Amino acid sequence: FQPKPLAGQHVLVSAGPTFEAIDPVRGLTNLSSGKMGFAIARAAHEAGAQVTLVAGPVGLPTPRGVGRVNVKSALNMQKSLDLLLPSATVFVSAAAVADWRPAQSAEHKIKKDGSGAVPTLSFVENPDILASIAASPRAKSGALYCVGFAAESHDLEEHAQAKRKRKGVPLLVGNIGPATFGQDDNALLLVDEQGMKELPRAPKLVLARQLVGEIARRLTS
Ligand code: C5P
Repeated sequence: FQPKPLAGQHVLVSAGPTFEAIDPVRGLTNLSSGKMGFAIARAAHEAGAQVTLVAGPVGLPTPRGVGRVNVKSALNMQKSLDLLLPSATVFVSAAAVADWRPAQSAEHKIKKDGSGAVPTLSFVENPDILASIAASPRAKSGALYCVGFAAESHDLEEHAQAKRKRKGVPLLVGNIGPATFGQDDNALLLVDEQGMKELPRAPKLVLARQLVGEIARRLTS
């Protein structure tokens, strides 16, 4: 038994939603609370790692002993992660990154012109941050261990294994529905090369500690 199984590791955790601006006062986001990612950061710190959180807009306190960078958009998040990645040994991608962003963000607040005309939004795809990090040389060589998340509404087992391969990560963690956004409890399905393992419903911090243990075991095996 090793009390600090992540000693010597630098764990980078992305958490929360992203916010994609439409104009200076409006934007699109999602219902991610950031609770799971923050719990993982706390658990990784308890396990002896140096931990940095890259957090989208959430109203959560920073876990003690954890470094934090606040970001808004997916592109901001990618830039911050890119700066921190060279020294990281584990990347846990718990953020709910927006798949799309408005093609343009207006420089000034969009105004009603009184005619009843409504603005139309068009979108461009955001980069898949996790997939691009997982394809980097350090991840490929095993120097950076990447963990992805999946929130599927149905057929989780099938989708999670397919997603793990598509993202190119050794470990993918599925949220076992119903939607867990904002709740304190969750249940997880861990999917790796070997198969699947369920972590039954429990408070997110309990699950985070179990997940950190699972990651530590895979780093040393
Ligand atoms: O494809 P999907 O959004 O379901 O994948 C979820 C996983 O991919 C999460 O780990 C999330 O943090 C990551 N992701 C990402 N960049 C995106 C979309 C998702 O890193 N643009």
